[in-house]
Amino acid sequence: MTTTQTLAELATGSYNAIRVLESHGLDYCCGGKLSLDQACQKKGLNPAEVLGEIERNAGGASSGDRDWKTAPLDELARHVVATHHEYLKLELPVIGARLQKVRAVHGSKDPQLLDRMGELFGGLRAEMELHMHKEEAMLFPFIEQYGKAQAAGRPMPPVPFGTIANPIRVMEMEHTEAGDALSELRTITKDYALPEWACATVRALYAGLAALEADLHVHIHLENNIMFPRAIALETA
Ligand SMILES: [Fe+2]
Ligand SMILES: [Fe+2]
Repeated sequence: MTTTQTLAELATGSYNAIRVLESHGLDYCCGGKLSLDQACQKKGLNPAEVLGEIERNAGGASSGDRDWKTAPLDELARHVVATHHEYLKLELPVIGARLQKVRAVHGSKDPQLLDRMGELFGGLRAEMELHMHKEEAMLFPFIEQYGKAQAAGRPMPPVPFGTIANPIRVMEMEHTEAGDALSELRTITKDYALPEWACATVRALYAGLAALEADLHVHIHLENNIMFPRAIALETA
């Protein structure tokens, strides 16, 4: 590993790298095309130290993780749906209800913050619900078929959208929008620092949003940096 590698490449190497990048606020999914050097420069971090942290922990708790670069593609698509889509389907309504409650009870404490949180979260939730539906109903079934064709040594089946790169481009644009909403939520909440008027519901709301962000980053990483490039490579092989 070197500091000239991109964040996406480092994240693809291990879950441990993801954990370290995440802990420094380095965006490896939508901002994954930057090298570690470039990304650290923007944040005022020392790239050698961050790389050292990744290497020190390599092979630790993450050693049992599946290697999604080589696992069958259909298995990866099912994994994303069963873990990350399932997570969002459970958490988005729960967080939405918490936010609604906080706005009803504490709306006057910081109306500017709470109104903007409402807009950002509402937009993110609606976008992600539609986005997951598009992936599950349209794109992933073909990605699963690609995985099965590869395993059987058959040619890739034709897709109804010309090339699989077309829907993938749309999904990647939507990922960037979701990433932008999450990063604005982090900025306006000052990295989820609790306001002094925070009650238990605000605590749960902030914790839920921070956890959602971490999960969505892994989710988008698996799609943008592993699943989608593998599907495009199979089609053009
Ligand atoms: Fe997804
Ligand atoms: Fe997606």
